[in-house]
Amino acid sequence: MKPSILSALSLLVSCWAAADSSISPSRQQYLNNLLIQDCGSCHGLTMKGGLGPALLPTSLKNKPAAFITATILDGRPGTAMPAWRPLLSDQEAAWLTARLLSGDL
Ligand code: HEC
Repeated sequence: MKPSILSALSLLVSCWAAADSSISPSRQQYLNNLLIQDCGSCHGLTMKGGLGPALLPTSLKNKPAAFITATILDGRPGTAMPAWRPLLSDQEAAWLTARLLSGDL
């Protein structure tokens, strides 16, 4: 791997770590419940899909994280996917995206 790719990767990882540590454990618990109960009511408890499409790492792998985060924040007008901006900060939506992409729910 070229050094520039390595340093970009380590920057990315440190950004994630920073994003993680500033969301309190109780808020992380709230977000995990939201993911299973609210998101899960449409996307399936295990994110395999329902009214909404599957949100598994394999289903999302070709979509940029920023696109997924924007979908969570602003929803998809004209579809059942609601905007979560009233409930979530940008950082919290990014945290949910990372949870979905990790597949570790
Ligand atoms: C009321 C039902 C409903 C709820 C609740 C809901 N979604 Fe959705 N979601 C949808 C539908 C329907 C779509 C597909 C929209 C479309 O046709 O583009 C969607 C699309 C998405 C997408 C885009 C998937 C892709 O492949 O492009 C993401 C990401 C997503 N939802 C995440 C979430 C998250 C995270 C939550 C909880 C915070 C949530 N959704 C809650 C119905 C819902």
